[in-house]
Amino acid sequence: MSRYIVTGGAGFIGSNLVRRLLNEPDATVEVIDNLETGYLENLEEVSSRIRFHQNDIRDYDAIRSITGGADAVFHLAAIPSVPKSIANPVPSHQANIDGTFQLLRAAADGKVKRVIYAASSSAYGDTEVLPKSESMAPRPKSPYAAQKLLGEYYCSVFASCFGLETVALRFFNVYGPRQDPGSPYSGVLSLFMKAILERRPPTLFGDGEQSRDFTFVDDVTALSLKAARAAGVSGKTYNAGNGNRYTLNLVWSTLQRITGVKMDPLYGPPRPGDVRDSQADTTAAARDLGHAPQFSLEEGLARTFEWYRDHHARMKPPAEA
Ligand code: UD1
Repeated sequence: MSRYIVTGGAGFIGSNLVRRLLNEPDATVEVIDNLETGYLENLEEVSSRIRFHQNDIRDYDAIRSITGGADAVFHLAAIPSVPKSIANPVPSHQANIDGTFQLLRAAADGKVKRVIYAASSSAYGDTEVLPKSESMAPRPKSPYAAQKLLGEYYCSVFASCFGLETVALRFFNVYGPRQDPGSPYSGVLSLFMKAILERRPPTLFGDGEQSRDFTFVDDVTALSLKAARAAGVSGKTYNAGNGNRYTLNLVWSTLQRITGVKMDPLYGPPRPGDVRDSQADTTAAARDLGHAPQFSLEEGLARTFEWYRDHHARMKPPAEA
């Protein structure tokens, strides 16, 4: 029997990971989420198969007692947005840095076997060379990027100083079902899906020629589970990307082709803190973790659109920025 805990399990990636873990034989799954950016609806049809704890990851005592003795804690709870961390840096610092520190401290004290940490590709910033490999010096361009990078350092330090096994995965622009399109800070592909369904053109910041390694959520949840099991990887950081990169203009035209909806996008000023190009070197993750992404952009977009089409009527109105 393996006992898995997902922080941020009511969020986009977390709720997808919960479903993958529930498919494992002999797994019990618990979720910790303060429901600040996650939704119980994301766990609706699996709620009877999990234990849900509405707690903040900064609450050391609560987190220590929930996580004690777990086989793996997947630490996904965060305020995950570059622009939000610039507009309102204090809450994102508290959740992403203080929260990660308390989570790691509780996990070490409670003898958790391994923590898998959701790090971010934003840590690289603008590099001269693509794809971006883990040996490159990080150059964070936003508070969010700096916070996520510090979380990686803490993971590695908890491994070396406190004997807690940790693996950090730098997620590269993850998209897929259950990504919340309800705020201007939402991931761009969730906003594209909403734009198509509402027949309202999206706004591209800048010229739309910035590129991202858009990674389908099932590929990062598969890699997360591999990271929980691989040998000889404690204290390390790996890219969790697809290995490709696509411009926003190209993704928008691909989505128009897939859905048959034609609309010219609007263009606005570039966004502060934005990285220009992002693409993962997946060599180390393939070698050490057995990473093998399964979803092309076309297939991921088609699956994602199908989900949004089926759930659009239930989506929340835009939240306050
Ligand atoms: C960054 C990180 C990613 C992290 C994510 C958390 C990089 C390269 N990636 O994503 O690893 O998981 O933060 O949120 O730093 N855009 C528009 N119109 C919109 C919204 C966004 O043009 O309405 C543009 C942005 O300016 C950006 C791109 O789309 O160039 C992607 O933006 P977004 O989805 O917010 O993610 P990143 O900031 O790239």
